[in-house]
Amino acid sequence: MAGIRAMTASDLDEVAAATEAGGFGNRREFFRMTLALGNCRPLVAVEHGRIVGTGLGSIHGRAGWIGVIFVAPELRRRGLGKALTEAVCADLESAGCVSLVLVATDLGRPVYEKLGFRVQTEYHMISGDPLDAAPTPPRGTRLRQITRADLNGVAGLDRQATGEDRRALIEHFAASGWLLEGAGGELRGFLMPTVRGNGALIAPEPDDASCLLDLHRHLAPRDGHAWAGLATEHEAGRRLLVDRGWFAWRTFPRMVRGEDPAWQPSMIWGQFNHAMG
Ligand SMILES: CC(C)(COP(=O)(O)OP(=O)(O)OC[C@H]1O[C@@H](n2cnc3c(N)ncnc32)[C@H](O)[C@@H]1OP(=O)(O)O)[C@@H](O)C(=O)NCCC(=O)NCCS
Repeated sequence: MAGIRAMTASDLDEVAAATEAGGFGNRREFFRMTLALGNCRPLVAVEHGRIVGTGLGSIHGRAGWIGVIFVAPELRRRGLGKALTEAVCADLESAGCVSLVLVATDLGRPVYEKLGFRVQTEYHMISGDPLDAAPTPPRGTRLRQITRADLNGVAGLDRQATGEDRRALIEHFAASGWLLEGAGGELRGFLMPTVRGNGALIAPEPDDASCLLDLHRHLAPRDGHAWAGLATEHEAGRRLLVDRGWFAWRTFPRMVRGEDPAWQPSMIWGQFNHAMG
């Protein structure tokens, strides 16, 4: 049976080769980022000196995210995916996480169900074509890039929406982030694009969200899409996107073990990615 240990920078080439050969994409840059982030615990499974699996835990205060559980195809159905997931959960629980959260693929879901995760809701993935024009902000508001001075406010609004402390991710992606502010300088919402048209987008008011969603499309790769991810509970938001020309693609289950985070799905319009929320 394979051994499981912390990933190091010298594993990156082999990890990327293994996930790519296994049809899970080349995740070199993603894992490099997780090694630089203080809240992330990437793991590898090693058998006969070869990397054959990966897993990631991300600590967001009392919530912990599990992602990129991967096993080389020829070694599946021998308990390794379960062992990797258990190792990530143990890391997160020992860091004080009482809510374990993940977005499951079809292959991952049976593994997580065996480990006591339940489907809390679905994320509806919706794509928008790129827009040439930058959006016009709602009257009395303005869009501007996020600066370091904004980080406390952004992290506070994010905590209100997600029920998680995602400060480490927010700091990491702040340099490419935008916010919408009111006439008195109050924070109305923010967008943090990540890669391939993904991005975290939080806004309590639908008009503000519409503006940030148009900005998301404006910043999206010209040959790709902007992605939004809305929970089933956020039905009004999903209707708004479709009315504005976005296309519903498919849903992915959000699964939780332990306490449900105290989140506000109607404030959430997009995720950093599916491994970290
Ligand atoms: C998901 C994945 C990591 C599972 O790895 P694995 O090593 O095959 O999983 P395990 O052998 O530990 O499975 C544990 C249990 O989950 C269930 N299970 C796993 N894969 C299953 C499948 N394809 N169909 C039905 N049940 C399955 C079984 O109950 C299994 O126990 P059993 O084999 O004793 O019946 C692997 O399929 C994979 O790498 N998939 C591609 C990447 C991916 O989608 N990852 C999930 C991201 S959320």
